[in-house]
Amino acid sequence: MELMEAMKTRHSVRQYTDRPIPAEAAAALRAEIDACNRAGGLHIQLVTDEPAAFGGRMAHYGKFSNVRNYIALIGPKGQALDEKLGYYGERIALRAQQLGLNTCWVALTYSRGKSRCTVAPGEKLVCVLTVGYGSTQGVPHKSKPMDAVCRSDEPTPDWFRRGAEAALFAPTAMNQQKFLLTRTGEKVTAKATGGFYSKIDLGIVKYHFELGSGRDSSVWA
Ligand SMILES: Cc1cc2nc3c(=O)[nH]c(=O)nc-3n(C[C@H](O)[C@H](O)[C@H](O)COP(=O)(O)O)c2cc1C
Repeated sequence: MELMEAMKTRHSVRQYTDRPIPAEAAAALRAEIDACNRAGGLHIQLVTDEPAAFGGRMAHYGKFSNVRNYIALIGPKGQALDEKLGYYGERIALRAQQLGLNTCWVALTYSRGKSRCTVAPGEKLVCVLTVGYGSTQGVPHKSKPMDAVCRSDEPTPDWFRRGAEAALFAPTAMNQQKFLLTRTGEKVTAKATGGFYSKIDLGIVKYHFELGSGRDSSVWA
């Protein structure tokens, strides 16, 4: 599955079947996580066969069921951490989708204290991604119109339009889509416009924009 297809078919999945993640898929996921950790100086970890983090009341109210695997998004504390984990976390989520697995970003509705991961001194567990075989493939989220999230003087080039379209497929906390992409010539400014977890959202959105537009990170002003 191409990354663009993975981006369009990924939807949050909160209910999972008992099917365990096969060894080859887990190895492929770990390879992607290792690459992201190296590139971003992060400490992201795959946790398998661990029902406790999603076994309590929070997860129940959040409509999660049978979550036994998750990816703990961890890195060194600092200003840039949320956005960076958004960017690399989404890269991992789309890799999982390519491997036939389903995911959901979770910042709130799980038990942070029960999660089995290693947070070294000076590091922070920001949020997790559930992962496994979903009972369904989820459903597409409602989306803002493109002109609500981007600014571009006419004529708008195709690459910017494709990037903005891809950004609207990005998962955001509570589906808030509180971001603004502004093009000035060949450069784009991406801004979080407030809301909970909007720095994480911004990292996710930037990863999608790069994929859709075909530009690399040098596109950011
Ligand atoms: C940073 C972030 C935090 C999230 N936290 C939660 C959460 O605590 N509980 C939950 O059920 N969903 C959570 N979500 C999932 C969003 O509700 C979901 O991504 C959004 O509604 C868009 O739907 P989609 O992922 O199907 O495209 C979170 C998403 C993001 C990006």
